[in-house]
Amino acid sequence: MDWLASSLFRLFQQAYAASMSNPVPMKIIAIMAQKGGVGKTTLTTNLAIAAAKAGYKSAILDMDDQRSAEYWAALRKRSETAKMPWPNVQGEVPSMLDRAISDIRNRGHDLLFIDTAPNAARAAKAITTAADFILIPTKPGALDIRAIEETMEIADFYGKPAAVVLNDAPTKSSLAEQAAHYIAGSHKYPLAEEILCNRVAFSKAIGSGLGVLELEPSSKAADEVRGLYDWLARKLDLKPIKTSRKAA
Ligand SMILES: Nc1ncnc2c1ncn2[C@@H]1O[C@H](COP(=O)(O)OP(=O)(O)OP(=O)(O)O)[C@@H](O)[C@H]1O
Ligand SMILES: [Mg+2]
Repeated sequence: MDWLASSLFRLFQQAYAASMSNPVPMKIIAIMAQKGGVGKTTLTTNLAIAAAKAGYKSAILDMDDQRSAEYWAALRKRSETAKMPWPNVQGEVPSMLDRAISDIRNRGHDLLFIDTAPNAARAAKAITTAADFILIPTKPGALDIRAIEETMEIADFYGKPAAVVLNDAPTKSSLAEQAAHYIAGSHKYPLAEEILCNRVAFSKAIGSGLGVLELEPSSKAADEVRGLYDWLARKLDLKPIKTSRKAA
């Protein structure tokens, strides 16, 4: 019996030591676009909230000097609606990217979203190298779509899977459909199945330190975020959000 107890104790010690030296695997999704104001921070914050709702210890690394995601996190700390401890948000300069990622991993996070700056050519190499997947948001206008080419080339150069997400699409026009058709026909990267439309809830949520899933869980904006997250979850073999679509 003593022998059994000491063997079990040794096994437990070995398992504990292994878990300390092998931190949890962490998937990294970078939200990149060379164009400004296309929804990088909106996607980052909402997807990180969606991931937390799916059960992940999510984190956001804010690589943009504007520090919009950090500002969102500061608002979040003051919000009474924000109940979840995730995502943790930290800002970092490009030269410290690798160390910041190690720190976030060692703190037990399992999903990291990197919010990037527009025209982030200097940091793009390091961010793309670190990422498992690149999401490229774009508005559906012709000039916006033209600008995704550069980000796609960066992802392609480093051999990273990537996809385009149509964001801020007008609800009363066929512009998004036309854009989706054009992107599907002329670009080699897939287009996310879910399109995010122009919805006031997105602006309200970001100004309140929340995701639309927290601020207006029954809204169409929330449905779109669930749809986008679940699409991403299928691509990256992540847990889906269990709640079903609510809005008509
Ligand atoms: N789908 C949407 N519906 C309504 N407003 C949106 C939507 N997406 C983004 N916005 C608004 O557009 C503005 C720009 O969005 P956001 O800050 O996410 O873009 P960005 O790409 O991160 O910008 P930057 O390049 O300056 O970092 C914000 O005011 C945001 O609230
Ligand atoms: Mg931003």
